[in-house]
Amino acid sequence: RIVVLDFGSQYAQLIARRVRDQSVYCQILRHDITADRIAELNPKGIILSGGPASVYEDGAPRCDPELFKLGIPVLGICYGMQLACAALGGEVANTTSREYGRAACAVSNSGELFADMPAEIDVWMSHGDQISSVADAFETLAATPTCPHAAIRHRDLPVFGIQFHPEVTHTPLGGKLLENFVIGVCECEPTWKLGDFADAVIQSVREQVGDRGVICGLSGGVDSSVVAALLYKAIGPQLSCILIDNGLLRKNEQQLVIDEFSNHFKADLHVVDAEDRFLASLAGVTEPQEKRRRIGHDFIDCFKAEAEKIDDAHFLAQGTLYPDVIESGADPDGPAATIKLHHNVGGLPEELGFELIEPLRDLFKDEVRRLGLELGLPESLVWRHPFPGPGLAVRCLGEVTRDKLVVLRQADAIVVEEIEKAGLYRETSQSFAVLLPVQSVGVMGDARTYENAIAIRSVDTSDFMTADWSHLPYELLGRMSSRIINEVKGVNRVCYDISSKPPATIEWE
Ligand code: XMP
Repeated sequence: RIVVLDFGSQYAQLIARRVRDQSVYCQILRHDITADRIAELNPKGIILSGGPASVYEDGAPRCDPELFKLGIPVLGICYGMQLACAALGGEVANTTSREYGRAACAVSNSGELFADMPAEIDVWMSHGDQISSVADAFETLAATPTCPHAAIRHRDLPVFGIQFHPEVTHTPLGGKLLENFVIGVCECEPTWKLGDFADAVIQSVREQVGDRGVICGLSGGVDSSVVAALLYKAIGPQLSCILIDNGLLRKNEQQLVIDEFSNHFKADLHVVDAEDRFLASLAGVTEPQEKRRRIGHDFIDCFKAEAEKIDDAHFLAQGTLYPDVIESGADPDGPAATIKLHHNVGGLPEELGFELIEPLRDLFKDEVRRLGLELGLPESLVWRHPFPGPGLAVRCLGEVTRDKLVVLRQADAIVVEEIEKAGLYRETSQSFAVLLPVQSVGVMGDARTYENAIAIRSVDTSDFMTADWSHLPYELLGRMSSRIINEVKGVNRVCYDISSKPPATIEWE
């Protein structure tokens, strides 16, 4: 395996994913992990990520300098390179201007790191500091017009540094460079496969579970479906699934989940129709966080009540993913907890008294999707846009009522249908309708109307932390608007949300 030490880079997870693209397992570790612990983990290579700090700043995150002496190849990226240099001899200076963007990088020494690459490559830079001089122990491998030491290597130790970011798509040959490091320098065998991973998980689930029962909550989303598919393969009839229909699902969603479920496995499925209960507790509530709190609370109660009906249930399976594990600080070797943006309503508390099974906790989202396909789940499910736990409640602004949900559900179905017809479902990350808490005046035939307004929201994003509004064709927006106004009773106006995140968020509440 390869390990990435995280110095607070927005790209640490991306580095790990790119390494896994080479079929090599990669794990993200806290930056201050000791060299002894790294030696115990015995990785074939260490990557030091970038980070926002300046190496000479007080309190700047550092690594254990002993790690450079382990004889394990090290690749420092940006801040990671500056750290390696500062530890092994060299000067880091603040550049007069921040360098940010594309640069042409001339390779003067095409040794292992730049093997089979042209003499000039496009790279992506994003830094304030850079190396101003390197100790004699280092040699320079590449330079850009403004960065004299864009890539370096130590003459005696297997320590490399690059100032640019190979993990982003703006460095077109970044994947090749990482391959040269991971496969060439570190001599990793490219043997890590999702299929093997699935086999190993299935095996370990069987051992852990024995002949006891497992419960899995289904939401219609990809994560819980992949968990259910994996567990069904592992333990078949010992699996029971629970779908709570909180009345806040999209059009036909309950039926869709039931159909998909019965097409793929024969496990025991419990569908709980809890619309009345959820709508009753949402009555009169307009504050978004209060809506979330009540929905979360009701969800747990409903789930608990249903789970009690299932005999021999000892385990609860959850679709926790690797980014959740990293961000929650749950891995003792992983980076410290950062602020989690959302408490996922589907996340069930420990008080339920089940032992947890989290078969996806080593995987990134795109790997979960690939695994879903390997397990035979349909593309339409595997690529479904994410849907928030509180569902349509946070898209029905102000008080949630049954009547408003009817309007919103129809408008939302039209938005998604038209996006699909235009072939843009995979290109956009999330597309949906929002029912605004305003009425506006319109005219239909000869009559004046005073009805609801719908906002269409469609965003493009890779991580949902930042997002741009989708630049949808006018014709498509026009079709959505006229269909919604014509087909959905009670709507006379449609707007398109052209706010990016930040400063807006993806959801309206
Ligand atoms: P925002 O609105 O914060 O959303 O830009 C980012 C992503 O998170 C989803 N989201 C939620 N998911 N429970 C969830 O499970 C929630 O309370 C929640 N709020 C937002 C949102 O759909 C988007 O994908």
